[in-house]
Amino acid sequence: MARLRIEAIASFISFEDKVVDIGCDHAYLAIYLMQNEMCQKVLATDIHENALLQAKKNIRKVGLEKKIPTLLSDGFTNITEDVDTAVISGMGTSTILHIIRDTQPKGIKKYILQANNDLYLLRTSLEKLGYFLEQERIVYEKGHYYVIGLYTLSGKRLTLREKYFGKYDVKQISYYKDMHQNLSFIYKQIRFKEMKKKVKIYIQLQLLKKYL
Ligand SMILES: C[S@@+](CC[C@H](N)C(=O)[O-])C[C@H]1O[C@@H](n2cnc3c(N)ncnc32)[C@H](O)[C@@H]1O
Repeated sequence: MARLRIEAIASFISFEDKVVDIGCDHAYLAIYLMQNEMCQKVLATDIHENALLQAKKNIRKVGLEKKIPTLLSDGFTNITEDVDTAVISGMGTSTILHIIRDTQPKGIKKYILQANNDLYLLRTSLEKLGYFLEQERIVYEKGHYYVIGLYTLSGKRLTLREKYFGKYDVKQISYYKDMHQNLSFIYKQIRFKEMKKKVKIYIQLQLLKKYL
């Protein structure tokens, strides 16, 4: 179990939240939240029957079957329960955006999102949908960085640097250094012919430098 990642996701949840974990897989997050009494309600859903069977088994093992309902659903499609906070984690940005844009969420005041790729697209798309990136936590676990974002309904706008690199946190300096190193490597590999791409990376490197 990815303990640090789950703890970081849970740290964005308040007791009054009515939570749905979309794509719960093993239901580790829902179990963690209920065992630690971190929210009043959590619904665990998944699109795949097998994942949900495993979730139910794990929930039963810890005796929480009365407290954690489960549901087979593509995103929000089959959800009729009253929920106001949605966690969508461990997926690609395109799947997360499909869930938020195409499966008709209702009454969600807060999203906690952890995408495995394209955070620029995630942050800017959420902004267009009216959700502003309030906070981010970065977790380094099993050789990977995981970026977990808290998005709330707001008319606020991100700066260009925030769109690319998120909410700066001085404690995560190694994350930005690592990213700078990767972008510098890519910059050197891009040939002169691909000038547009090179300029884009150059701008990102300049923006990122201000965090270092
Ligand atoms: C890699 S697992 C991540 C599990 C967990 N959320 C985590 O962060 O560890 C992705 C899960 O999302 C589920 N999933 C993918 N697309 C989905 C969708 N459209 N609606 C609901 N669940 C989905 C998959 O079946 C899988 O169990």
